[in-house]
Amino acid sequence: MSRKMKNKVVTNLTIERIATEGKCVGHHEGKVVFVQGVAPGDVVDVRITRGKSSFMEGEAIKFHEYSKDRIDPFCSHFGTCGGCKWQHINYDLQKTYKRQQVVDQFTRIGKVEIPEVMPIVGSANTRYYRNKLDFTFSNNRWLTREEIDSGAAFERNALGFHIPKMFDKIVDIEHCYLQGDISNEVRNELRAFALSNSLSFYDIRNQVGLLRNLIIRTTSTGESMVIVQFGGDNAEEIELVMNFLHEKFPQITALLYIINLKKNETFNDLEVVTFAGRSYIEEEMEGLKFRIGPKSFYQTNSEQAYELYKVTRDFAGMKGDEVVYDLYTGTGTIANFVAKQAKQVIGIEYVEAAIEDAKLNSKVNGLENTLFYAGDMKDMLNDDFIAAHAKPDVIITDPPRAGMHDDVVNMLLKLAAPKIVYVSCNPATQARDVALLSEKYSVDKIQPVDMFPQTYHVENVVLLTLKS
Ligand SMILES: C[S@@+](CC[C@H](N)C(=O)[O-])C[C@H]1O[C@@H](n2cnc3c(N)ncnc32)[C@H](O)[C@@H]1O
Repeated sequence: MSRKMKNKVVTNLTIERIATEGKCVGHHEGKVVFVQGVAPGDVVDVRITRGKSSFMEGEAIKFHEYSKDRIDPFCSHFGTCGGCKWQHINYDLQKTYKRQQVVDQFTRIGKVEIPEVMPIVGSANTRYYRNKLDFTFSNNRWLTREEIDSGAAFERNALGFHIPKMFDKIVDIEHCYLQGDISNEVRNELRAFALSNSLSFYDIRNQVGLLRNLIIRTTSTGESMVIVQFGGDNAEEIELVMNFLHEKFPQITALLYIINLKKNETFNDLEVVTFAGRSYIEEEMEGLKFRIGPKSFYQTNSEQAYELYKVTRDFAGMKGDEVVYDLYTGTGTIANFVAKQAKQVIGIEYVEAAIEDAKLNSKVNGLENTLFYAGDMKDMLNDDFIAAHAKPDVIITDPPRAGMHDDVVNMLLKLAAPKIVYVSCNPATQARDVALLSEKYSVDKIQPVDMFPQTYHVENVVLLTLKS
């Protein structure tokens, strides 16, 4: 960016609409200006942080007018923590913007003929809707400008969330509105206990410290899993922490810990020790049980996951004699959810532990018509695989944010199943893939589902039907 452009201030910019990834846009001298943390209708001065020939990005430094659609954010950490970027926009408008994002992606990127996008399925709970949160211990608490300017000495240990784009700074969380049940209590009590016992909080720059990370998972049936990751292996101190949690919170049904002396926080390759209770928790949906281990993926908003799966099953429209492929099956939740309406369901996923859980979930629920395979989709879904299995009547696909690999899209075109139900957490890559599939498929239904209130994220389900 030219020096002239950097730090340039655009004054009195009217924010016109929401664009992708929660950013808003206005126009200045023929260029689009992207701004975070504002709402359509705001009039602001913007300091430019990035400039290209066709667009600029910046931060609002002064508000001249506030949008009439603004509401007061309810969380004291709003603006710092970065977790719920849309708390200043009322929920009805959040839903409108999310649906509009889907329309925009399909018309701008997809450029395919689409039916009217259905009204978004809103979340009954707009607070305390997550079943999993991940907190980080740090000896480098984020200090506010006022705290720094005061010159006073502050407690620097913290337990909370990363400041966006700063790997070593943590906002100390007092109350988080994302997860209910015992979440806030466990976090705050554990922090207080650690401080009063002078236990060390992790120093990420020097890779030392006892307390590293805290994961809390809950279920709609009242079960809870608490996992403490330790960055040191002092057995006495570990015992002290785990005993404290066990005595203070006897209602925790799976109390686990991990000793992680590696450089990163991932623990797929580490042993998880069960300190008290069981090694897993169990979620329920329509009487089906889903076992969730410490390493298993499970949709983080359980109630909306149910809505999402109902839409998926409805779009698949099975009568009972269909062969269904569930691509990117994770722990086989969708596969098991639709199994009673199908002749056979085949799930594919590359995390082996997830496939083990998927098989276990079929067994626990007495489902005998499912098959699960572990491997990379582009390598698994090949001619040999198809020759060895029945051809699909319905394909359900739920890839990660990056969407499907070209080879997978080409295989779907070759397979030419009568129906594809495409579930996605990223309508941009979904629209790209649907454009490729439109060579043989028409888009029949588009149903956005809101899994993450107070954020710009939107989940979207598309029904594709083979053209005759
Ligand atoms: C959005 S999740 C879908 C999970 C599942 N459908 C559910 O609702 O619980 C995407 C899944 O794709 C898996 N995955 C990502 N890349 C993959 C690949 N190249 N091959 C196979 N699976 C992959 C991830 O491990 C993850 O479980």
